[in-house]
Amino acid sequence: MSVNEETFRQVDEYIGDLLANEDNILQGILANNKAAGLEPIHISPIQGKLLQVLARTCGAKRILELGTHGGYSTVWLARAMSEEGQLITIEADAENAELAENNIAFAGVADKVSVRQGKALDVLQALAAENLPPFDMVFIDADKPPYKEYFELAVKLSRPGAIIVADNVIREGKVLDINSTDEKVKGVQRLNKMLQSYEKVTAIILPTLGVKEYDGMVVAVVN
Ligand code: DHB
Ligand code: MG
Repeated sequence: MSVNEETFRQVDEYIGDLLANEDNILQGILANNKAAGLEPIHISPIQGKLLQVLARTCGAKRILELGTHGGYSTVWLARAMSEEGQLITIEADAENAELAENNIAFAGVADKVSVRQGKALDVLQALAAENLPPFDMVFIDADKPPYKEYFELAVKLSRPGAIIVADNVIREGKVLDINSTDEKVKGVQRLNKMLQSYEKVTAIILPTLGVKEYDGMVVAVVN
């Protein structure tokens, strides 16, 4: 038997069917997002389940998400927390933020989630000034050029033992090209390189291959 991209896609579906089923609500959110013309760059179901496992691992009661998009990953994350949980999710695009708010209400998790519309760096600075309790988990999935700055601010806003995840840090293997001129690739390369000698976290990059393009996620714990 030869293993190829189709095998990886089928294995992803196999794992999803076993352990990461989308219910009608998650499927409905994807349908809403598609109808609104959003790019299908949402996480996969098994990545959603991975986020839930990580949220439970650190006992997350306060989660921060950068890059709400249509709120699909937001709902996976919100569902990993009890009723007292709080999730702040940041979205730069006003139309996406409104769509996400509707999806979050549709999913019945609006009490746990607040959408902050604005550029992530601005909202992060504002959050830092609000003296909120630290976050237990941060999911970074916003625009790629400032990923290193997002990560550093995420660490600042988190407690020791917090889990920080950053999506899309392999980009179909394009990170291997040190001469890349792609701003998204350069952005994630800056983060990945920083992690090599960054002592504030213990980190790894999980390569991911499945229903989505070949990519990877940073998974880190704050020291
Ligand atoms: C892109 C962004 C994402 O968050 C993702 O998961 C895939 C692609 C992008 O901007 O290209
Ligand atoms: Mg992503």
